[in-house]
Amino acid sequence: MQTAIVTGHTHGLGAAIAQALLRRGYIVLGLARSLRADWPAGGDATRRQTQLDLSDPQALTAWINSGALRSFCQGSRQSLLINNAGQLAPIGPPGEQPPADIARAVALNVTAPLLLSQGFVQATAGVRDRRIVHVSSGAGRNPYPGWSVYCATKAALDHHARATALDRIPGLLIASVAPGVVDTAMQAQIRTTPTERFPLRERFEQLKLQGQLTSPEDAAERLVAHALAEVFGTEAVVDVRGR
Ligand SMILES: NC(=O)c1ccc[n+]([C@@H]2O[C@H](COP(=O)([O-])OP(=O)(O)OC[C@H]3O[C@@H](n4cnc5c(N)ncnc54)[C@H](OP(=O)(O)O)[C@@H]3O)[C@@H](O)[C@H]2O)c1
Repeated sequence: MQTAIVTGHTHGLGAAIAQALLRRGYIVLGLARSLRADWPAGGDATRRQTQLDLSDPQALTAWINSGALRSFCQGSRQSLLINNAGQLAPIGPPGEQPPADIARAVALNVTAPLLLSQGFVQATAGVRDRRIVHVSSGAGRNPYPGWSVYCATKAALDHHARATALDRIPGLLIASVAPGVVDTAMQAQIRTTPTERFPLRERFEQLKLQGQLTSPEDAAERLVAHALAEVFGTEAVVDVRGR
């Protein structure tokens, strides 16, 4: 049995990652604030989903402590944790960032993946092959004006992967993976941001117009192929664009 936890499985890249794993025979547990209407609400043999606001660390900790993660992974010969859910907001420079948006972005983009990583390592103590994928971004590696919070959170994931790899936890492989520029709701949000808050907006509008965005399905295929590859974990920080 092979199991995978995918955060943000309801739309965008996470939905495509979940489908790519289901096609490969993985049993998938999706975590998001809403439920996928095309999955049974109560789950079936291969698909389970739980409604959880991952930007609420107390709710997430209570869910992990409930044993749900442990019972889902029990008996797996391989388990994956794909920390995909993330948000871009707040967009704009410090001074124009709503404090609640800063706190929510850090909680969703950083605290949740770190809490889930901690819970996943405990829950998979008996699993011989266990892998954590942080869905990062080029923005974690290159600075963008207007995206200081997002850039900082993605850089945090990259460095968490680097440091965790040094812990040499038995059976655990980890990498922080940038998926490329993917045609999702997040990109649509970028194209509607006023240029005063995001000066590079036109560049992203051009990418869309020129058909240069990767489809969620292509990006997910590349990301999942890498996550399952033998080389996974040899590099802690990876970009799967063009692979
Ligand atoms: N799109 C790109 O070009 C791009 C580029 C580089 C990196 N990324 C990264 O790829 C990941 C996915 O991005 P995307 O473009 O697919 O985004 P998206 O279309 O906005 O989808 C985000 C997913 O996360 C879930 N989510 C959002 N807030 C949540 C919360 N508080 N609690 C639980 N789940 C939550 C959403 O589900 P609910 O609304 O149901 O909660 C949804 O399934 C993100 O980490 C993003 O930073 C994207």
